[in-house]
Amino acid sequence: MTPDEQKRAAARAALHYVKPGMKIGLGTGSTAGHFIDCLGDMVAAGFDILCVPTSEQTREHAERRRIPLTSLEDNPQLDLTFDGADEFDAGLNLLKGGGGALLREKIVATSSRQMIVIADRSKMVETLGVFPLPVEVIGFGVKATAWKIERAFAHLGLEAAITLRIRDARPFVTDNGHLILDCALGKIPDAPRLAAMLSGIPGVVEHGLFIGIAALAICGTPDGVKVLTR
Ligand code: 5RP
Repeated sequence: MTPDEQKRAAARAALHYVKPGMKIGLGTGSTAGHFIDCLGDMVAAGFDILCVPTSEQTREHAERRRIPLTSLEDNPQLDLTFDGADEFDAGLNLLKGGGGALLREKIVATSSRQMIVIADRSKMVETLGVFPLPVEVIGFGVKATAWKIERAFAHLGLEAAITLRIRDARPFVTDNGHLILDCALGKIPDAPRLAAMLSGIPGVVEHGLFIGIAALAICGTPDGVKVLTR
């Protein structure tokens, strides 16, 4: 199975958890995209569901598939959120934000009774941090914020190359109007501690460490779909 087939298999297996009448958060990325397609087929066959998208990209995709959408304003409490991840460890701590949607993803996931991760085998890691950690920041004072982030890393004995995310030769701007700093750490030995430190830095809106949020991971592997719990 290719990684994309693994993603599709995970997305399909996740449908098992979806019950009629549920309110569901829809993640962002290619794996979440497969889930949206599967759900779209169910909606076309008459399945009753109401969803909150975690990005404009996901909103457009869900609208194309005629999936009924709502907002957290109208429905602040959801049943489940299904989302991909750039990395996850055995404790189901996640590193997310490769698609730049981490802020809404975290708000939606933590507004749900349960977050379910869907991923391919390559996302399962022993220690988070090979994938550069995205940190969403306010544009004002971005260099000063980057310096404070670097200082927080140093405090934990970590070193990182911090780069402003660029798309089409311009700074990438999130759906919320912010910038992303990608922090190549190589390894994050104490993700909960780093998460707490980053959250305390003025100018940091959110970071891509999802600690203690996901309860279940559905992982497509070359040997079939595996379900992991923490
Ligand atoms: C977007 C994310 C995605 O979940 C993450 O990048 C995984 O994407 P994909 O399913 O395409 O591998 O965090 O912000």
